[in-house]
Order: sequence, then C-alpha cells, then structure tokens
Amino acid sequence: ELSPQERAFQERIDRGEKIEPKEWMPEGYRKTLIRQVGQHAHSEIVGQLPEGNWITRAPTLERKAILLAKVQDEAGHGLYLYCAAETLGVSRDQLLAKLHDGSMKYSSIFNYPTLNWADIGAVGWLVDGAAIMNQVQLQKTSYGPYARAMIRICKEESFHQRQGYDIMMKMAQGTAEQKAMAQDALDRFWYPALMMFGPSDKDSVHSAQSMAWKIKINTNDELRQKFVDQTVPQAEYLGLKIPDPNLKWNEEKKGYDFSEPDWSEFFEVIAGNGPCNKERLGARVKAWEDGAWFRDGLLAHAEKAEARRAA
Ligand code: 3HC
Repeated sequence: ELSPQERAFQERIDRGEKIEPKEWMPEGYRKTLIRQVGQHAHSEIVGQLPEGNWITRAPTLERKAILLAKVQDEAGHGLYLYCAAETLGVSRDQLLAKLHDGSMKYSSIFNYPTLNWADIGAVGWLVDGAAIMNQVQLQKTSYGPYARAMIRICKEESFHQRQGYDIMMKMAQGTAEQKAMAQDALDRFWYPALMMFGPSDKDSVHSAQSMAWKIKINTNDELRQKFVDQTVPQAEYLGLKIPDPNLKWNEEKKGYDFSEPDWSEFFEVIAGNGPCNKERLGARVKAWEDGAWFRDGLLAHAEKAEARRAA
C-alpha cells in the first residue's frame, strides 16, 4: 500500500516528470539508482582495459589515435556517471570501494579477452552497438542527472561504434586471413554481447520496479531483440556469419528468432568467475593503490590551503 508521498511520487513519474536530486524520492528509488548508475560508471572505467591493451599495438598511427580517443571518452563517461551517482548521496570513494571488494558489478562483457586487432573491431561494433541500444532509451530515464549524462554520452558512442565497424569492414574485405580473424572475433563476441542486456525478462529481478519508476524504459529482452535485428544485416554486409544456426527471420514478429546466450555462463561471469574477472579487478585495485600517494598529496595540499585561508 503506497503512502501519500509515494503515491504523489508515482504520479510524477507517470506524468513523465524528471526527478531532481533535492526532491523527495522513495528510498528504494534512490538505492536502485545508486546501484545502476554506479555499476554503469564502473563499466565505463573497467571497459577501458580490454581496448587499452591494444593502444600500443594498433596497426597504424591513425588507428592508434582513434583508439586512444575512444578509451579517453570512456574515462569521461565514467566521470559523468560517478558525478550523477554522487547527486544521490553516495561518494565516489564509497562506489570504488564496493567495486574493488566485489560488492558492486560492472558489465559482464569486459571479462572476455581481446586476443587480436579484429577483437577491437568487434568490441567497437558489437559492444558499443549494444551499449548504444541500451543508452539511447536511458536518455528518457526519470532521474534528471542520469538522463542528462546519457544525452552527452550517446553523442560520443556513435563514433565508438562506427570506428569498430570500420575496422571490421577493412578486415572482412581484406586478405583471407584477415576475414577469418574478423569471423573468429564475431564468433567469440556475439553471445557475450547478447548477455550485456541482462538476464531474460522472466529472470530479471529489478525490471518490474525499474519499469514502474521509468528508470528502465525498455526491458532487457526488447533491447536484445532490437540489437539482433539491427546487427544481422550489418554482419551480412560484411560477409560474416552470425554464429547461431537457429537465427532466422520471423515475418510474423518482424524480427529475427535467435538462440539465447548460455545463461549459466552469464551468471558465472557476473559472480566473478569469467575468463578475465581477476585480471580486470586486479588492474583496477592496483591503479587505486598506486594512485594513493597522489590523492594523499592533493588532500594535504587542499588542507594546507584551507588552514591558510582560515588563519
Ligand atoms: N553485466 C553485469 N551484471 C549484469 C548484467 C551485465 N551485462 N546484466 C544484468 N546484471 C546484473 C544486474 O546488475 C543485477 O545485479 P545487481 O542486483 O547486483 O545489480 C542482476 O544482474 C539482475 O539483472 P536485472 O536485469 O534484474 O538488473 P537491471 O534491471 O539493473 O538490468 C542492466 C541490468 C540492463 C545492465 C541495467 O542495469 C542497465 O541498463 N544498466 C545501465 C547500462 C549499463 O550498465 N551498461 C553497461 C554497458 S558497457 C558500457 O556502457 C561501456 C560502453 O561505453 C562500451
């Protein structure tokens, strides 16, 4: 049974109003937003690792410059999202501590390795393609700071996806070896990309409430379907084969029927047992520890300046 305050809040949501930081909100709304926005920010920061691994190995100076720009963009996306999360009353240090101790998540996809340059194409094309599918609808999310961060982020994501698809085009239209590498990258990233949208709706614990509060505008399965429908023609254009024997156009639903990912693999990966979880989290913890002296120096400087001002 909703309290008068909760009922008034729900009416605001139903009218499509944006909720701003200083306005009343149910504790559950605040909590689930800190969870989602914080984990979204963690995804951006951890997401720099698979691609960062190839900046020094890019095949040309142009590709190196493009990849460097993309990885820097992701750092910026992380900062916008940590700032959006801070408006909910949580500090960046608290969020990072929960990432490092494993009690907060980041997107499953970043626990898969990038083994060669074709993977960098597949990541831009499929991972950023899936992220765009998810983030475009989040521009309409009911929490003001989150929606506004998404508008800025979506503008940069289209470049991320285009540069990845451009790499795939170059390789798919290159030598037989290059085309085989592009196909192998698609084979390894297809199902992990489908997992990015989260469990199927029947297994999604947060979806019902997140849809009621218009935190989530489309369900996991709706977005996954849209992603498949958009990506299959792109693979065909490349002359690459989607690794799913059950993939076929369903005229009735005006979309593709396709095989679900292996959900036991998904739940293993988000439980911390994926191919690269230890390496990724280890890299983030090491970066945090290696940066302690710098944070301490900044704080000491700020305290001295404060003491001088107060004197
Ligand atoms: N990776 C890791 N955890 C996932 C996941 C994934 N792909 N999909 C779902 N989960 C987790 C959820 O976080 C939840 O666990 P929790 O309670 O500990 O948070 C659990 O699985 C159940 O899933 P639900 O569907 O019930 O959870 P949500 O309603 O939160 O839906 C979501 C999951 C669709 C990922 C939603 O949280 C969301 O839209 N998040 C914002 C988008 C986001 O995080 N995108 C990351 C993409 S990568 C990226 O942005 C970088 C890009 O620049 C390349």
